[in-house]
Parts: sequence; C-alpha cells; structure tokens
Amino acid sequence: MNQQALRSKFNEVFQKEKLYFFAPGRVNLIGEHTDYNGGHVFPCALSFGTHCVFCKRDDDKIRLHSLNLPEKGVIEADLNHIEYKKEQDWANYPLGMIKTLQNHGYKLDHGFELLFWGDIPNGAGLSSSASIELATAVAMNKAFNLHIPQVELVKMAQEDENKFVGMNCGIMDQFASGMGKEDHAILLDCNTLDYEYVPLNLRGVSIVIINSNKKHALVTSEYNTRRKECEHALKELQQKLPVKSLGELSIEQFEQNKHLITNETERCRAKHAVYENQRTLQASAALKKGDLATFGKLMNESHVSLRDDYETSAPELDIIAETAWSVPGVLGARITGGGFGGCAVALVKDEAVKPLMDAINRVYPQKTGLKADFYIASAGGPARQMEKRY
Ligand code: GLA
Repeated sequence: MNQQALRSKFNEVFQKEKLYFFAPGRVNLIGEHTDYNGGHVFPCALSFGTHCVFCKRDDDKIRLHSLNLPEKGVIEADLNHIEYKKEQDWANYPLGMIKTLQNHGYKLDHGFELLFWGDIPNGAGLSSSASIELATAVAMNKAFNLHIPQVELVKMAQEDENKFVGMNCGIMDQFASGMGKEDHAILLDCNTLDYEYVPLNLRGVSIVIINSNKKHALVTSEYNTRRKECEHALKELQQKLPVKSLGELSIEQFEQNKHLITNETERCRAKHAVYENQRTLQASAALKKGDLATFGKLMNESHVSLRDDYETSAPELDIIAETAWSVPGVLGARITGGGFGGCAVALVKDEAVKPLMDAINRVYPQKTGLKADFYIASAGGPARQMEKRY
C-alpha cells in the first residue's frame, strides 16, 4: 500500500476525512447600491475566491485559521456559545455564519476545524467577506447533511453580515458568490430574488478589474449612512406614492415627485438609486443584444452618478476611471463594489488592454503614490464542494 492509500485508510478508520470547499468573490458589472434599495444588480462570480478545508472534531470546539492572516493564529470558539467578539477579527464572518445556521434551528452536533485561504485581494471590494461566509455555509451544509437549498444559504449569509458582523449590506455579494455561473452574469431583482443568467458573450472584449490598492476604509459606517438616507428619502416619497422601495420607481415618476424629498443630499442619493436601477436593466438588455458600446456608456454614467450623487467613489478611483475613459478601445469603466476605494471594472477591447494598463501605470502612481493591479476577469461557478484532495 502506498503512502497516499495509507493516509486515506487512516482517514477512513479514524474519520479524519477532510472536506474541501470553495466560494468565489464577485465583480459587479453595473447596479451599485441598488440591492438594498429594491433594485437590480448585475454581478458575476469570479474564478478566484476563498478555499476552505473542513475536518471534524470529537468535542464541541471550533478552531479556525486563515493562511492569509497567519499572525492571528488559531481562533477558538465553543460551538454552543458563539458570540461576536472584536478580537475574533476575520473569524467573526464564519462564526456568524455558524451561529446564524444554529439560530435557524440547524443542529451541528460536533466541533470542527476550518482552514481558510483566499486569493481575492483583501479590502478590494471583490467580496472576500461574502466568499468566506459562503465557503463556511456550503461546508456546514455538506458536513452536517443539512440539505439547505443554496439560495437559503445565501440569505443566511446576508443575515450573518447584517446581524452578527453589523454591516447592513444588501444581498448582492452573497447571491453572486452562492449562485454564480461560469461565463454568465446574473441579473438579479433584489426585491423578489428572481434572477436570470445572461451569457457573457463578449467576443474580443475583456472584463478588466483594476485594483486601486486604496483599501476601502470607513466603508461600514458610510455604507450604513447611505442606506439610512435612502430609507428616509423613500419615506417622504411614500407620502404620495404607494411604493415599497426606490427600485419600483421609473425615472419619470422620480422626476415628478422628487420635490417631496426635503433634504438635498437625500434627493441625490435617491436619484442615484432610481437611475442606476434603470441603467442596470438597460445594460443587461444591451448585453443580450451584443451592444457592448451601450453597455460601456452606461458603466461610465454609473461611475459619474456614484461620484457626484451617491458620493461613494474616491479620488483614486476617479483617476482610474477618467484615465480609462481616455484610452481608445475602452468601452466603459466604473468603480465597482461598496465604494470608498477598492476596484474599478472596465469593458475593454482585447487590443486595448495593454494600452489601458500602460496609461494607468503612467498616470496613477504619479498622481497617488499607489500602484494599480490588473486582473482579467472570467466568470466562475458558485460556492461548492470541490473534489476531495486529502
Ligand atoms: C457592498 C454590499 C452590497 C452592495 C454593494 C454596493 O458590496 O455588500 O450589498 O450594496 O456594496 O452595490
């Protein structure tokens, strides 16, 4: 018997089998800050994300380690008393996921170890947190035979982030990580959770992700403020309009009734939410027709709206977007994700990818002292169990 066979015999006899899972990050093509406003989003899952290895324990301990943050060591918790603790740091995401499953009545009847490793740049706005949540969710689902439908795991991951971690996010990131499909973007109606996979038939055009390497600081507090501002604007519109969310409004309805929103800043926030939702619908329709020029133009409009009306861009991202717009063959470019830093996403003719990189490498470090990183995105599949490797 060779070493490999002996090792798997050991696992079989002592039930030390390790299960291997993966959950992707996401890039949002268009539809920013529309999810919690009951609008549409148009993200795709990426081929990179968070890998997670599960191994059963005989007691009630949970032990977690991240190879990305080895200095945090092994973080331990008691399966029966999971609570949020600041010093648990990144481990609050998986622990919150486990706690949320328990809150929903799912029984995890023994402890375990989880080892994480992610290849998503941290703080880049490509949903490393959602991918940790979903990797944990699919691991628990499989290891404890919970048989929870994937879309329910997605909802519970959002609940983890909202209630346990304290980030009042919408459902886009968790949905993209949990429901992604290779070579497709997802048009998701965040009001109903109806969704449609749209083929990324780009023919000679690439999706380029440009990481500003400006970490998105203050994102939680600013994000939660934006959400409140939109909720208040909606309340004022509801004095006259029978709508449940800003996502239900057409541009005409908004323009006719925007005077009901008394605060000017809140009027701008609501304007973004309404217009961005319409842009998302137009962009996905354009993609279906193969009209990438229109898609790109809508991306540019999205950036301007996030910069001026929603104020979630950052000077670094404005420089990247503006530089990209000046390069022939770049069809569109915009900040992507929660904002205040992170990444831009651009739709670029293949022959213009190098000129785009050259232009950004020329302008960006000089203006900001930072260096940008580039990734050519390919849309990948959902959070899942991978082949057994151990
Ligand atoms: C973050 C949130 C999402 C979404 C985006 C902005 O990524 O987690 O729910 O609101 O910001 O579009």
